Amino acid sequence: MTANRSTGKGRTTAAPVLRLAVIRGDGIGPELVDSALRVLSAATARTGDDLAVTEEPGGAEVYRATGAALDPGTLERLRTDYDAILKGPVGLPEVRKPDGTEAGLLGGILRTGLDTYANVRPIRLLPGVQAPVRRAPGEIDYVIVRENTEGLYLSRGLGVVTPSAVADQLMVTREGCTRVARFAFELARSRRGAPVDGVRRVTCVDKSNVLRSYAFFRKIFDEVGEAYPDIERDYRYADAAGHDLVAHPELFDVVLTENFLGDLLSDVGAATVGGLGMCPSGNIGDDASYFEPIHGSAPTIAGQDRANPVSQILSAAMMLRHCARHNAARLIEDALTAVLESGDVRVRADGSPQAGTSHFTEALITHLPKEEP
Ligand code: IPM
Ligand code: MN
Repeated sequence: MTANRSTGKGRTTAAPVLRLAVIRGDGIGPELVDSALRVLSAATARTGDDLAVTEEPGGAEVYRATGAALDPGTLERLRTDYDAILKGPVGLPEVRKPDGTEAGLLGGILRTGLDTYANVRPIRLLPGVQAPVRRAPGEIDYVIVRENTEGLYLSRGLGVVTPSAVADQLMVTREGCTRVARFAFELARSRRGAPVDGVRRVTCVDKSNVLRSYAFFRKIFDEVGEAYPDIERDYRYADAAGHDLVAHPELFDVVLTENFLGDLLSDVGAATVGGLGMCPSGNIGDDASYFEPIHGSAPTIAGQDRANPVSQILSAAMMLRHCARHNAARLIEDALTAVLESGDVRVRADGSPQAGTSHFTEALITHLPKEEP
């Protein structure tokens, strides 16, 4: 990660060029990434941040062409040559491995390969969005921190398979639970608390009433939480969490959970804020990070200008913030709020942008300030 460097004399030099890798992805990926790059370039033109954007190959089409969804050389470049990665959704349902799982997905390769252990998934209700729950913007504003390198997904591609039985094991480690719990408490420190009461709170979500791995996850959560007396600790079993994310979303600030539960619950949360197309994410590690929508590549609507670009645009804003380009990140988020408030664009109840992906993108750009604010 790069940041403004101080000269030590009270002056600040210009930030170095931000080196970004872009994986355009499959299905709707390329059009979403194009939209996000247009917004990125318009916003950073206002703030004077320099970007160097390099395309890197990965996904189902790449698998089809080469036999690997991501070349080992690409992974190495992603680890060493960039400040951050913006990734479109990948995968195509018909591109499968012999074992029946999808061949074009990159989660197993990138999350493990870059050791991005915290999957950060903000769930925020924006103005003008038709959501199935009756809530106002500001009442749903929490972040799911999904452990991203172990849990049930540790068995990806490794489960025991016989002709008559198949097993995938859920495993968590002290190290894995500790680092992601610490991340969640630190994140809570940087936020303003839950909408209902302004209390900074981390809710641990597990099934510790049934499974020992989850009891261990909760135990480590408590141990780590001892060092954060300013942050309230809260608990939910995963089934009740699913209920409360829908029925009482205003209670939540930061939600910490295991990999597989985080996958499920982030889609539940997404449904309450206008769907998956509204939801960005960041995969954060100590040495590398990448940013992507939480949804898949929706090949049935690809190339039709029907995809909602918000998830990808907000992922780009998260990336800018992570790279300490706070002004540019804020410009994008403010322009998105403004364009939704203006009614110039609408996201339909089915999650699609009313006048199309491109129109939505251009309308958002017109809500950026004319020059550097
Ligand atoms: C997500 C996605 C991925 C996951 C899929 C595409 C492998 O659903 O990022 O939530 O299960 O993690
Ligand atoms: Mn998912």
